[in-house]
Amino acid sequence: MFSALARPAGAALRRSFSTSAQNNAKVAVLGASGGIGQPLALLLKNSPLVSRLTLYDIAHTPGVAADLSHIETRATVKGYLGPEQLPDCLKGCDVVVIPAGVPRKPGMTRDDLFNTNASIVATLSAACAQHCPEAMICVISNPVNSTIPIATEVFKKHGVYNPNKIFGVTTLDIVRANTFIAELKGLDPARVNVPVIGGHAGKTIIPLISQCTPKVDLPQDQLTAITGRIQEAGTEVVKAKAGAGSATLSMAYAGARFVFSLVDAMNGKEGVVECSFVKSQEADCAYFSTPLLLGKKGIEKNLGIGKISSFEEKMIAEAIPELKASIKKGEEFVKNMK
Ligand SMILES: NC(=O)c1ccc[n+]([C@@H]2O[C@H](COP(=O)([O-])OP(=O)(O)OC[C@H]3O[C@@H](n4cnc5c(N)ncnc54)[C@H](O)[C@@H]3O)[C@@H](O)[C@H]2O)c1
Repeated sequence: MFSALARPAGAALRRSFSTSAQNNAKVAVLGASGGIGQPLALLLKNSPLVSRLTLYDIAHTPGVAADLSHIETRATVKGYLGPEQLPDCLKGCDVVVIPAGVPRKPGMTRDDLFNTNASIVATLSAACAQHCPEAMICVISNPVNSTIPIATEVFKKHGVYNPNKIFGVTTLDIVRANTFIAELKGLDPARVNVPVIGGHAGKTIIPLISQCTPKVDLPQDQLTAITGRIQEAGTEVVKAKAGAGSATLSMAYAGARFVFSLVDAMNGKEGVVECSFVKSQEADCAYFSTPLLLGKKGIEKNLGIGKISSFEEKMIAEAIPELKASIKKGEEFVKNMK
């Protein structure tokens, strides 16, 4: 799918003449001037699937939009600055991606971001519920295990909730798992697929290496080590950036991968599957990430956990209490909002 990003001139030109209704996704990025927002907007601008890109932030969007608008691809780009311009950014959108909010610094957990990011996600979700209630909402802002319950409760408050259209973007965990397994086994990462289920924080991130395609055999010590690396990969980046933030470029890639899958499925492509943290009945908590079959209206079918190893079963059992607590924290935040 991402081979579409490598852009030989002829192919790009052919694509730019393709004006079928299929390739007309209107996508908004909220938090578009940030470390994730800017490269994500660049990848979206480079896609033939996107016809309109609207960029919202509380800072710098006029510059980001002017810069991107000079790129020779079809999508129109417009920047929106500050809350009074947010409604116009959202009107008519098919997909809204939300990477707004503060990232981690060394020593912080994702939950440490709750106090700042909860209200940002609640405010932006309320605007989406009012101005584009039918759009697919893809939340990147952490802690995802709480921000998805927040977005959900806000949509419920506005009477426009559709559980098939609110997604916690966990794609970076899958991208990392694919990369690390490929490195370890000397495989082409583009051909590796590891489902990652559960949530998006520490031990709630559960790679199902037993379901990896192609099948990989790892002794228990390697399995334990690579599982730990996948779970702590975000912290690896936070430490390496030494105070300058968390994953941005790989997250932009992962966010774009998720949006393109969603738009492909909305356009009628069959068999599109991505893992995402969503409202779920697949585990003993109200939200859980599993592979989802995507369709024209969002989630078409939850494919569930499938057959797993006892090692993976144990990880799920250990993750549930933390997931439940994070979900409750998000739900209570909205309940207590004025
Ligand atoms: N889901 C994931 O896998 C994943 C991975 C990495 C980072 N993240 C999260 O993504 C978020 C953004 O990270 P970043 O590195 O881009 O941060 P950043 O600080 O570089 O950018 C955040 C942007 O959000 C904007 N913003 C702040 N409040 C806003 C508001 N009320 N409305 C609109 N925009 C607002 C800021 O102006 C800034 O441009 C963080 O919460 C981070 O933890 C998630």
